[in-house]
Amino acid sequence: PVSVYDNQQVASVAVAARIAALIRSKQSKGQKAVLGLATGVTPIGVYAELVRLHQQEGLSFRDVITFNLDEYYPMKPDAAQSYVTFMYENLFSHVDIDKANVHIPDGTLEQDAVAAFCLDYEHKIEALGGLDLQILGIGRTGHIGFNEPGSAPNSGTRLVTLDDLTRNDASRDFGGKANVPTKAITMGIGTIFKAREIILMAWSKKKAPIIKKAVEGEMSGDVPATYLQLSDNVEFVLDEAAASELT
Ligand code: F6R
Repeated sequence: PVSVYDNQQVASVAVAARIAALIRSKQSKGQKAVLGLATGVTPIGVYAELVRLHQQEGLSFRDVITFNLDEYYPMKPDAAQSYVTFMYENLFSHVDIDKANVHIPDGTLEQDAVAAFCLDYEHKIEALGGLDLQILGIGRTGHIGFNEPGSAPNSGTRLVTLDDLTRNDASRDFGGKANVPTKAITMGIGTIFKAREIILMAWSKKKAPIIKKAVEGEMSGDVPATYLQLSDNVEFVLDEAAASELT
């Protein structure tokens, strides 16, 4: 299903409310919510609202476990552009989450240690009963996580090469494309698919063409997000601008 909101603020508040409801419902049963999280500009409003809910409405992250979708490779966690830095700045530093419950792919590994790390990432998610909810943005290549065109629908967490367009889009954050890493560690399409609920968010006119392809286009590895059409558990949450090319 597709939900279209007037603007990204109201959409972000609605998504945050769903996450908060999930966290509270798990807590009331003595269970832990397992969340799959994304970085980038798209989820910033969701995280801001979750911080507000924590600070003003008593939402606790004490029992919340998180797995981030991806991290650049190589990447030092304390670098300004790392997804570790992003997550702490936008969410984790402002809520009562236990650092031991935070999982983000490790951009500091030696190349020969990456495969074992990725397998372990999958096992950790499985051992916790799987992801209750996965939040996604979408890249202009149609990537989800960093699953670029050509990714297999059953792919798992792995080291990938970033698409040229993705590196262009990241060049501002890195002060030039030459500084953007060529690789990343990402959850796979298969990993994302196993989540019990998936919310893909997109805002602005810039995302309208890829949203049209993702929602209405033929399913194809050329646009990895089209694989989401196979799932009954996906919701596309859009603002008017991102939805503007849908028929
Ligand atoms: C981020 C991620 C990416 C982004 C996508 C959109 O963890 O996995 O798929 O969601 O590149 O990025 P923004 O939101 O910056 O437009």
